[in-house]
Amino acid sequence: MGIIIKTPEQIEGIRRSSRLAAETLKYLEPFVVPGAKTIDLDRKVEEFVRDHGAIPATKGYKGYKHASCISPNEVVCHGVPNQYELQYGDIVNVDVTTILEGFYGDTCKMYSVGEISPYAQKLVDVTKECLHLGMQECKPNGRVGNIGAAIADHAHKHGYTVVYEFCGHGVGLKFHEDPEVAHIAEYGSGAILKPGMTFTIEPMINAGKARTKVDRKDGWTARTIDGKLSAQFEHTILITETGYEALTDVYGDF
Ligand code: MF3
Ligand code: CO
Ligand code: CO
Repeated sequence: MGIIIKTPEQIEGIRRSSRLAAETLKYLEPFVVPGAKTIDLDRKVEEFVRDHGAIPATKGYKGYKHASCISPNEVVCHGVPNQYELQYGDIVNVDVTTILEGFYGDTCKMYSVGEISPYAQKLVDVTKECLHLGMQECKPNGRVGNIGAAIADHAHKHGYTVVYEFCGHGVGLKFHEDPEVAHIAEYGSGAILKPGMTFTIEPMINAGKARTKVDRKDGWTARTIDGKLSAQFEHTILITETGYEALTDVYGDF
């Protein structure tokens, strides 16, 4: 396949879709409270995305039925929205991918439900730092592997583990394009970054073991093998002539 270099017109489309995905996460904030059911949050996501002329990319994707992935506590990613009521002290990730005029934008972030423990807060903070350290490796002639190397160094320094079973990915004209962006990798490895590439960085960092297992009943929800907490942040990144632009970083709050 190879990595697609986007045209300026395509980049503008991906930028608009990415903005909408970010706006969706912002819109959701006041609804992420104790007692909220994740299925109801998913409905809010779907309404907002459609009201803005877009389609939620996950809906119908490989049989997935929802507009978002909602992953509380020990859920690493791909949490299927359901009847679970968020509890005071939970951490929860919401991941939204929009298709606007054919272009894809992909982002996720963590929400705190009420006040969370210092233990949970530290994991959330370090995971956000991991995303930013990965972003700082994004520049023309950089290597994809440097992103994962920087992320893993930081996570390990804090005693956390890096999920290796799910990766970032090229995005923009399709949901998942080349390259695969591993969140644990060797410096100097992987494809060479060029202006016009668009891809996600979406580290999943675990408090305990790195391994995950997928729920046998819903076939999607991936949990930590040991039930310990996991956190994730995701931006859609554009490589520019001088560095990068985080297309989903609309509010500067993560
Ligand atoms: N948005 C997720 C990502 O960041 C993918 C979700 S695919 C789904 O790559 F089918 F699980 F929804
Ligand atoms: Co993604
Ligand atoms: Co995503």
